[in-house]
Amino acid sequence: MSGSRIIGSGSALPERVVTNAELAERIDTSDEWIIERTGIRQRHIAGEGETTSTLATAAARAALADAGIDASEIDLIVLATATPDNTFPATATKVQAALGCNGGIAFDVAAVCSGFLYALTTADSLLKTGMAKRALVIGAETFSRILDWEDRTTCVLFGDGAGAIVLEAPGDNAPGTGVLASRLHADGAQHDLLYVDGGPSTTQTVGHLRMKGREVFRHAVVNLSSVLNEVLEDADISASQIDWVVPHQANARILDATAKKLGIPAEKVIVTVQSHANTSAASVPLAYDTARKDGRIKDGDLVMFEAMGGGFTWGACLARI
Ligand code: COA
Repeated sequence: MSGSRIIGSGSALPERVVTNAELAERIDTSDEWIIERTGIRQRHIAGEGETTSTLATAAARAALADAGIDASEIDLIVLATATPDNTFPATATKVQAALGCNGGIAFDVAAVCSGFLYALTTADSLLKTGMAKRALVIGAETFSRILDWEDRTTCVLFGDGAGAIVLEAPGDNAPGTGVLASRLHADGAQHDLLYVDGGPSTTQTVGHLRMKGREVFRHAVVNLSSVLNEVLEDADISASQIDWVVPHQANARILDATAKKLGIPAEKVIVTVQSHANTSAASVPLAYDTARKDGRIKDGDLVMFEAMGGGFTWGACLARI
């Protein structure tokens, strides 16, 4: 069995860093509360002129450079975001224009914090059909623009950023390399636990993120453990064979609880939530790129990606790098 291969990665973060202490000057919170409940110490916040598409384009350029290929070789762009530049056209088409690789397939995927898993699985499926040869799979967000900065229960949790990978069609890959197994799920009945209270067809406003944090937490651990077990079973692999877990970075306590449930040691879990906070669809590729660039994740490693988000949506994907 061989799947599409990840041949490069890149990421981009806004210049401006906002610490917990800075937030505590504006709202009734504290550095201690945020660190203890979430593990977050700081987040990057987009400034004037920085948008989802500019961050996505910067991450995509970095991924192309890492893969050593030219943008002209990209014939598919799948961009996961819940904070597009505009309602339409897709932010993926803006990235395509910025990279100058027009003519291929380009579209957005909306699955909020699971967006990158949905985008990766969609791109892998399209590459396997032969419709495209090389894809940019991007997660990019500017959640700071949909936060209610008066609501301390949500605004301290999120940040902005983008991550990207270049995914190549299976071709002559050696068996057992590339994407080995993926599973995606959704449960629309849980809409009210995590949603945005606006949109073009309802309020004609952008709206703000609303969340029942404690209930989301409870569902996250259950859903993630279950989908991770499904993927392990599909790939006929045991948890002990995984070299690295690259999870969605929502909360350090969710990461700990999920790893513990599967019996995966904490040292094998890539954690970036302390410096990026929750960047929604961007968090998995941002964490992956961080661990690739600092040398932890190496060629040949078995890596599990996983995420859960609004919808609810959740998914996992196992790949041999
Ligand atoms: N600073 C200080 N106090 C805060 C606060 C903040 N930023 N936010 C909430 N509090 C208070 C609450 O008002 C509450 O006070 P009360 O007991 O007087 O009513 C207290 O802290 C506990 O709140 P609670 O919501 O029960 O805390 P918690 O331990 O569940 O932690 C989250 C809150 C949001 C950090 C946690 O539930 C969580 O991480 N949930 C998952 C969210 C998530 O990951 N979402 C994204 C999924 S993609």
